[in-house]
Amino acid sequence: MESVTRIGQVIGCNRYKILLLLSLFNAVVLGIAGAVKTPTLINPESITKTIKSDEDGEVVDCVDIYKQPAFSHPLLANHTIQMKPGSYPARVEETRSSSNSSNFSELLIQNWHKNGKYCPEGTIPIARSKVNPKDRKAHPKAFSLDDYVIVDALGHEHAQVTLEGGNYHGATGKFNVWNPVTFHPEFSLAQMWVIAGDGADLNTIEAGWMVNSVTNNFNTSLFTFWTSDGYRSTGCYNLDCPGFVQTSNKIALGMHLNMISQYNGQQFETKITVHKDPTSGNWWLQIQGEDVGYWPSALFKALSSTATAINWGGEITNTNPDGRHTPTQMGSGHFASEGWKKAAFVRNLGYVDESCTIRDPDHDLIPLTTRAECYSVHLGNFDQTYGAHFYYGGPGLSLSCH
Ligand SMILES: *[C@@H]1O[C@H](CO)[C@@H](O)[C@H](O)[C@H]1NC(C)=O
Ligand SMILES: *[C@@H]1O[C@H](CO)[C@@H](O)[C@H](O)[C@H]1NC(C)=O
Ligand SMILES: *[C@@H]1O[C@H](CO)[C@@H](O)[C@H](O)[C@H]1NC(C)=O
Ligand SMILES: *[C@@H]1O[C@H](CO)[C@@H](O)[C@H](O)[C@H]1NC(C)=O
Repeated sequence: MESVTRIGQVIGCNRYKILLLLSLFNAVVLGIAGAVKTPTLINPESITKTIKSDEDGEVVDCVDIYKQPAFSHPLLANHTIQMKPGSYPARVEETRSSSNSSNFSELLIQNWHKNGKYCPEGTIPIARSKVNPKDRKAHPKAFSLDDYVIVDALGHEHAQVTLEGGNYHGATGKFNVWNPVTFHPEFSLAQMWVIAGDGADLNTIEAGWMVNSVTNNFNTSLFTFWTSDGYRSTGCYNLDCPGFVQTSNKIALGMHLNMISQYNGQQFETKITVHKDPTSGNWWLQIQGEDVGYWPSALFKALSSTATAINWGGEITNTNPDGRHTPTQMGSGHFASEGWKKAAFVRNLGYVDESCTIRDPDHDLIPLTTRAECYSVHLGNFDQTYGAHFYYGGPGLSLSCH
């Protein structure tokens, strides 16, 4: 409820800003489910090892790093792989030196490498799709690229904060991770968006965690997404299409996060950073201190320069069967106003400025909800431990949301 007032104030006092926001928002509302591609075929000869998780049967193929999907992208025909970022933005570097990569598995556990069996050096893990290509087509409207009205009507709902108006070289945040109940066929996610351009030139880089019941993935997974044409015909999740270049042999995008072992009485969270490498211009992704890989600058037009907006927050889709909102949860399923230990949060938000330093967005964050009676957002007061942070989420269908 409070967030509605806040948005109202923004509308009232700053028209220019809200215009900008709305056009951005329309694009964002089209949402992440925008593009779906048939998984890129990986030449079986490029697979050097296959690892199956004992616990949930997920399968990862270890693929020769030089034969990964990215390199079949026409714009990457002559691309030379960058194995490590040339540098890190100031605050990321601090975090890296204080973390020990041998502690990695304690920090982030995916079942497939629970016993320390990562993919061999020189290969990268690619999650084998559990989805029958036929099932992907079962809900074509959820993925319609051609008809914005349908996608829009399908109901992408957001509870997020936005930072815009600057030149951003990256963004970071610690995402509190949950396993929201997600009605089939919908998704529920928490992520950040790194954005430039608009309309058909909208470029986004997106990363976070999600439950995607559209692909029958009811467990919480790490994911990435990108588009270079406003969700029309470019981009995809993870390594489902050529584009993202992975360098890490440890993190498999699209694979489940094992959250149970992480609890220990603490709230499980995962730190995600995207930063533009000043020398190559590539946008590097770091998860939990691990350099996962990068989106080559060559994929983008607007984002070949800097980002002009960053969003952090939750997004769900509501298929509205029988004219009624579904009980798909966002975040923990609790409203933002319920706060600490109940509502999901994202903390230590930061953006990378032009001098490659991570800054606190603090006073410049604008909260935004599409339906606050269903999913709300609440900015917390800046403090030393939590930095710039916010709570978000909601239960979906309820007395107020239907
Ligand atoms: C790759 O190199 C070839 C030969 O120099 C050139 O013709 C082609 O345009 C290059 N492709 C890209 C995408 O840069
Ligand atoms: C890594 O492990 C060492 C030894 O167990 C511990 O002292 C250190 O605090 C750990 N680092 C992190 C970032 O958890
Ligand atoms: C990381 O951990 C290993 C094994 O616990 C230890 O030998 C090494 O010194 C640690 N490195 C740092 C930078 O803490
Ligand atoms: C995935 O979900 C199933 C069913 O809810 C559960 O039994 C399993 O433990 C989950 N796996 C992980 C890695 O959380």
